Amino acid sequence: MKIGVIGLGTVGYGVVEILTNEKERLEKEIKQEIVVKYGCGLEEVDLPQGIIYTKDYHDVINDEEVDVVVELIGGTTIAKNIILEAIAHKKHVVTANKALLAHYGKEIFQAAKTNDVHIFYEASVGGGIPVLVSQKESLIANNTKEIVGILNGTTNFILTLMENENLDFEEALSIADGLGYVEANPALDLDGIDAAHKICILAQNGFKKFIDFDQIQASGIRNVSKTDMDYAKKLGYRFKMIAQAKPVKDGLGIDVAATLVNLNELIASVMDSYNVVEIDNDYVNNIIYYGRGAGRYVTASAVVSDIMKTTQSEKWSHDYENCPHVYPITLSKYYIRTNKPIDIPYETYYSEKDDHIYISEEIEFNELKEKITNDKAVIFKVRD
Ligand SMILES: NC(=O)c1ccc[n+]([C@@H]2O[C@H](COP(=O)([O-])OP(=O)(O)OC[C@H]3O[C@@H](n4cnc5c(N)ncnc54)[C@H](OP(=O)(O)O)[C@@H]3O)[C@@H](O)[C@H]2O)c1
Repeated sequence: MKIGVIGLGTVGYGVVEILTNEKERLEKEIKQEIVVKYGCGLEEVDLPQGIIYTKDYHDVINDEEVDVVVELIGGTTIAKNIILEAIAHKKHVVTANKALLAHYGKEIFQAAKTNDVHIFYEASVGGGIPVLVSQKESLIANNTKEIVGILNGTTNFILTLMENENLDFEEALSIADGLGYVEANPALDLDGIDAAHKICILAQNGFKKFIDFDQIQASGIRNVSKTDMDYAKKLGYRFKMIAQAKPVKDGLGIDVAATLVNLNELIASVMDSYNVVEIDNDYVNNIIYYGRGAGRYVTASAVVSDIMKTTQSEKWSHDYENCPHVYPITLSKYYIRTNKPIDIPYETYYSEKDDHIYISEEIEFNELKEKITNDKAVIFKVRD
């Protein structure tokens, strides 16, 4: 097997390292020689002996000897060209690029099918957690009923800091940023867009439907205050940025939102930058995958597994129909904080100083909004 790794940053360099350090053992596993022929990056880095450095990804794609192209540059422009050109040259593709697959998955999967090559992308969701392979292969007997996850480590780290260190959002954000946890475009993390990319890929695989990413509603954690966090704790809940997907009426309900999670739920105990994915299936009920969703070796581990999987003959099927509609999941319990009492069906009521806090019964969001006249009311979803 001859491999070209395009993008030699955090993950790409980790892939080269693992393939070099584990070469002998991996070769025994797949019963063939493994050669990293190219490392392609914009700036030259020290590569292990024998690997050809190039600045131009075309050198990799045009080389007939290369069997597997590994795209690890990120983004949705050049990365898309690299993947589609590699597929057109009949090369298997491995990527960790969730943004690209959320936006252009359908086009890429169909190109891979037409050219009869593998496309694997385990590292795009949950870093090293083998959730996609488990969903596609180990749980093939099942129909997926619901997917729920904490899919963005940065926001989970910020929420953990706010709670443990008694910080407000801006203070916790600045610490996370200082540690290099926040993406160059912070909206990807803070506004739930990165988590939306991941739930889109998970839902696509789970519900076997192509999803129009632009229909997914994502709101992040910028509006979570220390005040609400403290009230949530008093009522037995913790804030988490929850990505959720399940079938609803004539389509799928998918969204990402800061949500109060019952402290008794396992998902509530997922702290720091850890990720969790909980999948409810018809035969195997709630399965929980937990682990680190990012980091050089964690992510590179998933990429290397995918590279090894390109030796198998069966291609993953992506013969999906389009999902006709994607809706936000609006039937929920809600947390409401107002400065005067309101008339809603509720499970819990608590009052402190001038604040009136309610945990509503399950209700449609529009119906709830009609009952709340105060525009300044703070509202979050509650997952029990
Ligand atoms: N980091 C993680 O823990 C993690 C986890 C899961 C998934 N991912 C995904 O993995 C992918 C890579 O992420 P990363 O963290 O490794 O990013 P990164 O550290 O920024 O590495 C990307 C590398 O690609 C290089 N590059 C950019 N354009 C190029 C081009 N046209 N040709 C060759 N090289 C080019 C960049 O060079 P310059 O720096 O000179 O621009 C950089 O070295 C992304 O899709 C990301 O979403 C990452």
